[in-house]
Amino acid sequence: MATLTILGIESSCDDSAAAVVRGGPDRAEVLASVVRGQADLHADFGGVVPEIAARAHAEVLDHCVEAALEEAGLALPQIDGIAVTAGPGLIGGVLSGVMLAKGLAAATGLPLIGVNHLAGHALTPRLTDGLEFPYLMLLVSGGHCQFLVVEGEDAFRRLGGTIDDAPGEAFDKTARLLGLPQPGGPAVEAEARHGDAGRIPLPRPLLDRPGCDMSFSGLKTALLRARDAEMAGRGGLTRAARADLAAAFQKAVVEILHEKTRRALEIYLDRAPARPAFAVAGGVAANGPIRGALQGLCAERGVAFSAPPLGLCTDNAAMIAFAGLGRLAAGATDGLDLAARPRWPL
Ligand code: KG4
Ligand code: ZN
Repeated sequence: MATLTILGIESSCDDSAAAVVRGGPDRAEVLASVVRGQADLHADFGGVVPEIAARAHAEVLDHCVEAALEEAGLALPQIDGIAVTAGPGLIGGVLSGVMLAKGLAAATGLPLIGVNHLAGHALTPRLTDGLEFPYLMLLVSGGHCQFLVVEGEDAFRRLGGTIDDAPGEAFDKTARLLGLPQPGGPAVEAEARHGDAGRIPLPRPLLDRPGCDMSFSGLKTALLRARDAEMAGRGGLTRAARADLAAAFQKAVVEILHEKTRRALEIYLDRAPARPAFAVAGGVAANGPIRGALQGLCAERGVAFSAPPLGLCTDNAAMIAFAGLGRLAAGATDGLDLAARPRWPL
């Protein structure tokens, strides 16, 4: 199959990104990947503010594209297609990317390819580790939490996911409750190292129910109560109590993800894939104890474990370019009427 060079654009949450990927749908190389985060813009608000995000994307996306092309040493005429996240995500941000991509496609005559952001995440282990279909994937970040059996470029079997918050969101909320900085995940993980994970009991919501669905909002509420109980009569949170709460929270998330992954693996292995493989991606996959628990589980089951490097497993445009490459190779392009979609289940 011919080699294709694709420009990717991503702006569905709080990262503005552009990338250039070259290759085929089975194997490709990242020639450039530029990500401009907006964390500092949202820091004072305790979360991503959609209007601020949309404006920032509109301001920096074309610079990201220029920087990515320069890093790849290419000009637009040397590109074969323009892939852009068309959803799901914050609609203002998605629109910024889609408008830019349409403008570039209209100006150059290049094919336009609308990509599902989740498909981008789900196909990343093929880009980074050359995984073969079908593989099991746990996508776990600030916005997502789901198990997918990735059966083909455009074939995803969802085994379950969170029914409320994503774990990254719970890590971020926990950090706020404990007075730790954002993003909360790394801060809670660091704090948990000094804590006793067994002293403060926290629930494991939905663990007693069959299936792969998960829930994290009850855990957040329980943590708030436990924190208030720790503070009561002491005028504040002691260093030890903060560490114990962080450790207890992280342990609960590890146990939930471990047990639900065990069940998802059972369902996946039931169809006897030739080369069983499991991939975990998303910001929360950076967590050492979570990664370790899932890796151990795969080792027990004889399932290859893959975790894409962090830069490709948090939001980025290389995954969008790669997913777009597969679509272009399959002849699945979009017209200039491509719509930006806030919701777009796989
Ligand atoms: O994939 P990502 O960059 O963005 C999306 O949410 O799509 O993930 C960010 C999330 C944040 O909630 C952050 O707190 C969490 O991933 N995270 C972690 C760790 N590093 C980042 N959570 C737990 N442990 C970590 N070490
Ligand atoms: Zn994402």
